[in-house]
Amino acid sequence: MGEEAKGDFEPKIVGFTCNWCTYAAADLAGTSRKKYPPNSRIIRLMCSGRLDPMFVLKVLLNGADGVFFSGCHPGECHYIKGNFYARRRIAALRTILKEFGLDERFKSYWISASEGEKFANTMKTQAEEVKKLGPSPLRGKIL
Ligand code: FES
Repeated sequence: MGEEAKGDFEPKIVGFTCNWCTYAAADLAGTSRKKYPPNSRIIRLMCSGRLDPMFVLKVLLNGADGVFFSGCHPGECHYIKGNFYARRRIAALRTILKEFGLDERFKSYWISASEGEKFANTMKTQAEEVKKLGPSPLRGKIL
């Protein structure tokens, strides 16, 4: 794979979202015609507590330039404590990502089902940030 000029670079972003909040917010953004960059691919989890840090590492190893994770606001998880478990896993994951210089490529948010506009704005911001970072250093190097 050749080097992409930063200006032409369109980042690939993969997001893990909870079914009940952020996935619904993404749906709301779509039905409300809120525009956000089309380069995000969303993987729906039933609860953010299902997030396994290996999911994030695998998508980065498979060529994603950025990854996000989002679930219900703390205290609003439909399975009571799922997002608290997720928060702990994310803290551990950040330690690993920092070791590899990839921590800026991973973002986490809390976005409820009624926050379609916040979802769209968040996606725009992350796409701009990842674009500034350029392609992932792992792109085309592994697997
Ligand atoms: Fe949304 Fe648990 S159901 S974080």
